[in-house]
Order: sequence, then C-alpha cells, then structure tokens
Amino acid sequence: MTKNNVIDLFSGAGGLSQGFKQAGYNILMGVDFDDAALRTYGHNLKDSIALKADLFDEETAIKEIEENLNGNTVDVVIAGPPCQGFSLTGSRDINDSRNKLYVAVVHAVKHFQPKAFLIENVPGMATLYKGKVKEQIINTFEDMGYNVSVTDKPLLAADYGVPQMRKRMFFVGFRKDLGYDYFTFPEPTLTPEDYIGTADAISDLPSLVDDMGEENIPYFTAAQSDYQKLMRKNSSTIHNHIGTKHTDEVKWVISQVPEGGNHKDLPEGVGTSRKFNEAWTRYHSQKPSKTIDTGHRNHFHYKWNRVPTVRENARLQSFPDDFEFLGTKTQQNKQVGNAVPPLLAQAIGEKMAEHLKEGKVNDK
Ligand SMILES: C[S@@+](CC[C@H](N)C(=O)[O-])C[C@H]1O[C@@H](n2cnc3c(N)ncnc32)[C@H](O)[C@@H]1O
Repeated sequence: MTKNNVIDLFSGAGGLSQGFKQAGYNILMGVDFDDAALRTYGHNLKDSIALKADLFDEETAIKEIEENLNGNTVDVVIAGPPCQGFSLTGSRDINDSRNKLYVAVVHAVKHFQPKAFLIENVPGMATLYKGKVKEQIINTFEDMGYNVSVTDKPLLAADYGVPQMRKRMFFVGFRKDLGYDYFTFPEPTLTPEDYIGTADAISDLPSLVDDMGEENIPYFTAAQSDYQKLMRKNSSTIHNHIGTKHTDEVKWVISQVPEGGNHKDLPEGVGTSRKFNEAWTRYHSQKPSKTIDTGHRNHFHYKWNRVPTVRENARLQSFPDDFEFLGTKTQQNKQVGNAVPPLLAQAIGEKMAEHLKEGKVNDK
C-alpha cells in the first residue's frame, strides 16, 4: 500500500509533520520562512524537503513548491498558519495581514487539489468576529468542493496522551467529488483520571541543580513511565537539556511557589521587592502542564527551582527525544512552543488515513 503524500505549510520545526509521519504518511515537504525552524525541520525529517518560501507571496511560493515536488502528487495539505492574527491576545483586526496567510492555504488547496486538508489554529479563532472568520473559511473550502468539518470545541491535547492542557481547533476537508463524506474527529484516548502528569513526562531527565548541563548527555536513569519509554524509544542520548542561570533571589522566590501553585501562593512579603511575573506557575507533578508557549520563563519545574529546559518542554509537547532542536535557545523555545504536539497530530492523521480509504478513488 502506497503512503499518502503530504505537504506542510507554515511547517515551523515540524510538529504536525512529525505526527503525520508517525501516522504513516509520506511527508514530501515543509514550507516556512524561518531559517532556524527550517534547519530543525530538515535535520529531523530527513526524507522531506525543508523549503524556504514566503507564503505571503502565495503565487511564487506555490511555483517553488511545485518545482520541488519531483513529479509527486499531493494527497494531503496540512497547515498551521501563525495564530497571532486570530489570537485573543494578539491583534484582532480582521485586516491584519497575518489573517491573509489563510489565502496561501486556499491557493495551495486550489492548485494541488489534494484529497484532504487539515488546518490548525488557536481556539480563540472560532469565536472571533462572532464566528465570521470561521464561517468564511468553511464556506471558501466548501465552494472549492470540500466537505469541511470543524472541531465543535477545541481538541485538548491531554485527551490524546500529551502531558499538556493545550487546546487547539482544527478544520479538516475531504473532496466531495471523490465520494468522501464529512470527517469525524478522533475520540479521546484518555479520561481525565488517566491524563499524563509532568512527572511521568520528565522525571527521568537530569535535575541540573548543580550544573547547567550540556548537549548530548547520556540518560542517567531508566525510563520511569510508559510515556518516557515511548519518548526514549529511538534515542540513546539527551539533547537540548541545558539549564537557565537564575539569580539566587529568583531561585529563592521560585522555591516559595508550591507545586501546582502560582504567584498568588507566595507568602506575604516574598517577591515584593520587584515585580514578579503574574504568569508564574509551578507545574503539578501529577497533572499535565499548562500550554507550552514560545517563551519559556513563566512556568517552573514541578520540583526544581528553575524554568524547564527545551527538552522538558519538548517532552511536554510529545516530541520524541531523537527530535533535536537547532538554533539559539530562544529560537528552540519558539519552535517547541509553536508546534502542534506530534501525538495529537498523529491521532488526527490516523483518523484521516482511515477516512482516506473510504473514498471512491481508493487507489492507495
Ligand atoms: C504556529 S507556527 C507552525 C507550527 C507547525 N505547524 C508545527 O507543528 O511545528 C507558524 C509558522 O508560520 C511561519 N510563517 C509565518 N509567516 C510566514 C510566511 N509569510 N511565509 C512562510 N512561513 C511563515 C512561522 O515562521 C512559523 O514557523
């Protein structure tokens, strides 16, 4: 059975691609304009092309994609356009140029006529402008001949085995003329009682209490959970596990934040000498983490008095340990925080693969 060919637009470091690869797809290409993210993409998705193109200029970009396809057909387009234009914390101007990045996905789907597509975005996007943006996207793709399904409520990564309370919304379209019905999103695989906590996710990684760590170090302990076994499956060393140097004062204040607590739990008088960040939160060892963002300084390790390392955040995003992040630490944190958790992408990819078999031209 031949695998379905995928192109990934706004690929970043490749969270979506990695998940679809794990779900059995053939990833032809990731397209982005960020050099560091593309280096990471190419380093890890070795059989795929990491193409640098500005998707804002969609016509040129599509030409470049076409030239790099080497005659392959595109069966599925996956895309995670930047969320700032839609994000509740970002600009909400409907004319925000970043909103126009959807146009690149529309053009790519029009041009390549894939059997299916998937678009990911932040939950806030669904209700933006009273749902008008969402409706517009659905109608555009319906008019182009796709049956479009949208998550009624955002999917929660923890429901699919990711140790994180990240919520994301997805659009999935399947071509009507090929006989595909509407897609149904995968059911959760875990109930809240079984969610994977941060200790199960990262307890085997060195504490970095006495040193800052270095690149490429061996594991010092055996895997302590099934999740750790899964993450370590193809890896024999630890990458991207470098600590952050905090001042003694900051470490002391962090030490007062209880497990699962935040700045409000600081005893009176602690942290008053300077403005401490209101978003400061310490992970709970038995619960999934909060959403991993592109910075890395708002959350603390559940046990150690420091911010998590890139590897710890990558674990909480369900990137396997052999997936290595390149670039500066800031760039690495951005790549990790921007990504769709591979295990969540895999769950959707697997369900889409089942659906792909149900079309009229089931030639695969
Ligand atoms: C939310 S991230 C995508 C994350 C990715 N789906 C993943 O799972 O790892 C959005 C990406 O869009 C890229 N981007 C933003 N504007 C772009 C443009 N005009 N052309 C190409 N890529 C762009 C950014 O560099 C960033 O990597």
